[in-house]
Amino acid sequence: MAAFIIEWLTTGVRWLHVIAAVAWLGASFYFQGLARKFKRRAATPAEAEADVWEVRGLGFYQIAKYLAPPKAMPPPEELVWYRWQANTTWMSGFALLTLVYYVGAQRYLIDPAVLDVPAWAAIALSVSGLAATWLVYDALCRSPLVRNGRLLGVIAFLLLAALAYACSCVFSARGAFMQLGATMGTVMLANVFFFIIPTLRKVVAAIPAGQRIDPDLLTQYGQRSLHNNYLSLPVVFMMIGNHSPLAFATGYSWLIVSLIVLIGAAIRHFFNTMHATRRKLVWPWCTAAALFACVIGLSALGSRSASTVLAAGPPQAVRLAEIKPIVLARCSMCHAAQPVWPGISAPPKGVMLQTSEQILIHAADINREALLSSAMPPANLTGITDAERARIGQWILAGARAD
Ligand code: HEC
Repeated sequence: MAAFIIEWLTTGVRWLHVIAAVAWLGASFYFQGLARKFKRRAATPAEAEADVWEVRGLGFYQIAKYLAPPKAMPPPEELVWYRWQANTTWMSGFALLTLVYYVGAQRYLIDPAVLDVPAWAAIALSVSGLAATWLVYDALCRSPLVRNGRLLGVIAFLLLAALAYACSCVFSARGAFMQLGATMGTVMLANVFFFIIPTLRKVVAAIPAGQRIDPDLLTQYGQRSLHNNYLSLPVVFMMIGNHSPLAFATGYSWLIVSLIVLIGAAIRHFFNTMHATRRKLVWPWCTAAALFACVIGLSALGSRSASTVLAAGPPQAVRLAEIKPIVLARCSMCHAAQPVWPGISAPPKGVMLQTSEQILIHAADINREALLSSAMPPANLTGITDAERARIGQWILAGARAD
């Protein structure tokens, strides 16, 4: 019963998380795109710098941009702040992390072959990791380094790559992947919550009062917004990447994740430049394509099962009758019409592996989840051996025959 309720709660929270994230990133992309369309026209309001005209639905919208609060500005409490989107994304994301990775720590967060720790210790490491990364990042942004945006960006990226490696030494493959995604999301939200919104409030209050704003504060504002902007595409990959076992459950997944951050940043750079200058750069797309090719190569190189299959010799005529007992012993306790594994209330993703027919239908899925990657069994809970993986691999290489 508890598993049933947790399953539905997870589904509801996941829905909310995606809606809030779409609203957050949608608003952010909208404003970035808007920046390029501003123009000064005869009808632009006198105090405004420029405006944009838009049509949507049955309405025509004139959006004017002011560099300082205009005289006709309504009171600050009437300004639209775009806050709930970021806050709700983070809160629902943390709830999801708790429901999936903390409640199901044995399945998703811990892998005794990586680090044999009790669930409470892994959860404590995960939560404190999120807080510690934010504190380190925040200190970096408050340091004089903030005046050298490029150097700060490089250092922040190297720290992220180091964190990805550290996570791979502590959590299960999937746990490490999600910890990094959660870290990026936490840094982005904390930037908005602890710095961007409070600074914006100061600006709104200071300009009409004729006060000067600390230029260092504005530099920091620019850098933090830029980091959030460059992290926006990678963080979307992290949200959906747990459906891609080749990305998170192969030997060099920490490196793959680091390259994904660079790929997302390169593509974002293309759009930033286009919005700011109308130039359509080619190199960001070439870089992204080259790095994506590296990602694919790394996933092949890090596929432990592939190397064990090759080491076992050329594909032999392994028969289904030979691999069926392996699947029954290592997979069917979860992948059954009535799973017997605690915490699993229905066959995961509808995949049942109990009969020869079911194994045959899912041969390609078994290949992806248990051979090309080691996503299954989760955290190798059922202790499948490399020799067993190799046998299944040889059956698949020989054509996954039914006899
Ligand atoms: C301890 C329970 C458990 C065991 C044992 C297990 N699985 Fe899974 N399996 C899961 C869960 C949970 C999911 C859903 C993962 C998710 O939510 O992304 C899953 C998902 C899958 C999927 C669908 C993946 C997708 O995203 O479409 C396949 C295929 C699969 N497992 C194959 C296997 C194979 C093959 C084995 C044995 C080598 C195995 N599983 C052992 C729990 C298990």
